[in-house]
Amino acid sequence: MAEGRVYNFSAGPSMMPVEVLESVQRNMLNWEGSGMSVMEMSHRGKEFVGIANEAEKNLRELLDVPAEYKVLFVQGGATLQFSAIPLNMLGAKGKADYLVTGQWGDKAQKECDKYGKGNVVCNTKASKYTSITKPEEWKLDAEAAYVHYCDNETVNGVEFGYTPEVGDVPLVADMSSNFMSRKIDVANMPASTQVSRRMLAQQAWLSTLSALTLQMVLKSPLCAQLTAVGRQQLMQIPCTTLQHVSQCTSWAST
Ligand SMILES: Cc1ncc(COP(=O)(O)O)c(C=O)c1O
Repeated sequence: MAEGRVYNFSAGPSMMPVEVLESVQRNMLNWEGSGMSVMEMSHRGKEFVGIANEAEKNLRELLDVPAEYKVLFVQGGATLQFSAIPLNMLGAKGKADYLVTGQWGDKAQKECDKYGKGNVVCNTKASKYTSITKPEEWKLDAEAAYVHYCDNETVNGVEFGYTPEVGDVPLVADMSSNFMSRKIDVANMPASTQVSRRMLAQQAWLSTLSALTLQMVLKSPLCAQLTAVGRQQLMQIPCTTLQHVSQCTSWAST
């Protein structure tokens, strides 16, 4: 290990391989001989478009993301997705189910309440967010627009380890703190489950990754349909921030 570095196993940002950091360092002043850093080049230029395309290709390969799924790289952090998800997906149903097993799930549910009804299907606050209620005890609504859960609640380290079974209702997974930590079967989840990255044609699977305020969202074909509905709904929702508007536009235009 390079001199002076510490072992950092924190739940949030933690250690990266020295080779990766050295590559970033080398390319900082002059990316791959282009004569400039990534921050200085045109976002429409062939160099940057090449970087973006390669990032998407690598992600698709690593997670076996089916071609019909959209991959979005969006700004704003995972917290912004807490708004973008209900704004894009609530649609005419106006209600969604939330499995609250920690602080992040709690924040997501409260955000949904601003635009519709975020039903709390389970809440483990009584255990100080150290447990996951048994699926038999969840009060899922078959008419919910989607089910949201946090696959790994970062603060207390509560991780599902399995994909919640939610019937035909689209499943939304916040995997901000365990995304890419293991292989996920995006394409072959049973149609009756949702998604941990699940989601077959009629389902929606989505994940958010928050790193340096960049998120990756994997959007299933169903999700695209829901977004179209969400866009119409947007006309009727008073947006609280400009970011909300732009975020919804981002989803809807992909
Ligand atoms: C599971 C989870 N969801 C959401 C967030 C919020 O991410 P951001 O700070 O990018 O908004 C975090 C941040 O640590 C997180 O761990």
